[in-house]
Amino acid sequence: MNTGKAGRIVAAAIFMASLVSCNFSFGNKPGEYESDEPGETVGSSWDVLTPLHSRYTGQFLLGNIISPLDLNTVRFNLLKRHFNTVTAENAMKPDAIQYQRGQFTYPDTMVNAVLEAGMQMHGHTLVWHSQTPLWMNTGVSREQAITNMTNHITQVLTNFQGKVVSWDVVNEAMRNDASPSTDWRLSLRKNENPAQSENSRWNQIIGDEYIELAFKAARDADPAAKLYYNDYNLNMSNPNKAYAVYRMVKDINERCPAYGGRKLIDGIGMQSHHHLNTDPATVEESIQLFASLGVEIAISELDIQAVFYGSPYSSFTEDAAKAQAQKYAALFIIFKKYAANISRVTFWGIDDATSWRKESFPVLFDKQYKAKPAFYAVENPNKY
Ligand code: G3I
Repeated sequence: MNTGKAGRIVAAAIFMASLVSCNFSFGNKPGEYESDEPGETVGSSWDVLTPLHSRYTGQFLLGNIISPLDLNTVRFNLLKRHFNTVTAENAMKPDAIQYQRGQFTYPDTMVNAVLEAGMQMHGHTLVWHSQTPLWMNTGVSREQAITNMTNHITQVLTNFQGKVVSWDVVNEAMRNDASPSTDWRLSLRKNENPAQSENSRWNQIIGDEYIELAFKAARDADPAAKLYYNDYNLNMSNPNKAYAVYRMVKDINERCPAYGGRKLIDGIGMQSHHHLNTDPATVEESIQLFASLGVEIAISELDIQAVFYGSPYSSFTEDAAKAQAQKYAALFIIFKKYAANISRVTFWGIDDATSWRKESFPVLFDKQYKAKPAFYAVENPNKY
């Protein structure tokens, strides 16, 4: 057999295949981004791509969300390959763990599988106005509400001690229409106006002290766990809210110095549910503000809507995908710059089809778990 000729035929076939691949791949036209990983073309399946988290080794953890239904599925394998930390999307919320008083349903199987796979587990969330059973804080005395809240925290952290490394202790305590006042308490959700949607029974019944009490109960139950305050719209497009959170964390940490040997609130979770109109400069400003408190920052629920009210794109076109990728790249350039302050960047969704905002195509993989341009933007933001 003439191996030289065979070799030329194979080479020609590979060349032709690469042309076909280029022509039909998202964003991989001459002069545009190409992955620098051999064997990767834009639109590759999740399982041939270089682990995404390896791009950020030594900078911050890279995460995504998990559900118990993901176990033993392709989704779990995808998580294991590309991420080194996960957050339970719903399985650790108050109504999932203790729907009825004293009856605890722990996603232990899921947490054990996560740890066996070599990933870290972040806990979300202990105290929230939403997805919380009524018995905890409605129609009960202040003392009973405090007992219900602290008991929930104690039981949950004790169950997961040594397994869950960090917790969103309090989630979304601030109103979106936060006050410009220097008193952060005026920006808290409360049930003072029945017509108001931004209510919190916890603040109504216990008072603003519930936040500090929750963090103290968590620190007492698991001193090793990192404790976070988590909220959305914390970039400077809503400065009143960002400053309210800043003032709250500053005030509580100053009033409770070295509780358990260190700051009571270890970190701030910036949920980061963004869209194409988000100005990255407003994200950087908030990172600088929170970093000045000496606390960790987690980008805790990152996604970027491409198709939404106000978007220049009414469907997820190639241009929309590119614009989204560029936004991801711009944000990750900032995250890398502040890697010393950022502990973790977690995406809120494995693929577009199962995202809570699926109509907006907001995450890195499409419904067939193929990498969107956004994946490559995160893989190499400076080059994108
Ligand atoms: O538990 C019920 C189940 O019994 C029922 O059969 C099923 C039918 O639809 O609904 C189930 O509840 C759903 C729950 O997710 C659990 O799957 C709710 O309808 C649904 O609204 C809920 O949505 C979650 C949402 O939080 C609730 O607020 C999303 O999956 C979850 O992604 C989202 O996550 C939040 C973060 O916790 C906090 N930050 C914002 C973020 C996005 O909203």
